[in-house]
Amino acid sequence: MDESRIHVMIDEVSLQNRIRQLADEINHDYQGKELAMICVLKGGVMFMTDLAKYIQIPMTMDFMSVSSYGNQQVSTGIVKIMKDLDNSIENQHVLIVEDIMDTGRTLQYLKNLLADRNPASVKICTLLDKPHTRVVPVKADYTGFVIDDKFVLGYGLDYEQHYRNLPYIAYVE
Ligand code: XMP
Ligand code: MG
Repeated sequence: MDESRIHVMIDEVSLQNRIRQLADEINHDYQGKELAMICVLKGGVMFMTDLAKYIQIPMTMDFMSVSSYGNQQVSTGIVKIMKDLDNSIENQHVLIVEDIMDTGRTLQYLKNLLADRNPASVKICTLLDKPHTRVVPVKADYTGFVIDDKFVLGYGLDYEQHYRNLPYIAYVE
């Protein structure tokens, strides 16, 4: 991609400050409980690992991979499990950690799928939310930033598998 099209939307300091606040909320809400953090690969990986560093209650991590977009910038609505969880979530307090909620199809599908496995609870934590493009009525319990309907990359999010390593969120004009 022509890199002059890439602009910072949320800088590194703002990201880290907000993630710390989200962790504070989670620590408070899950007091006395154990948390099963589920990262949605690959986009959620930076967010999950940074968020986890601030979690102060007992917690486990597991990873799941679903495909929704392929290498296109538009949602197909097709959600396919590429990698399932390693461990059972029965009777556990599950927190799905995702990079971005767009149409909502991925998270609605995942939430229903995990809810069917008899967890104690299932909540969603998304770093970014694009509410203007939602097509299904799924809601996040924790949201880092509400953003406009722009294609974003960096901090786990990719453009054709690249730019996930950027420490900030950028948009493409
Ligand atoms: P849905 O539409 O199911 O989409 O809510 C969620 C998934 O779509 C990807 N997505 C993006 N990826 N920049 C990206 O790099 C974006 O602006 C963007 N919007 C959606 C993402 O993989 C997410 O898990
Ligand atoms: Mg992607």
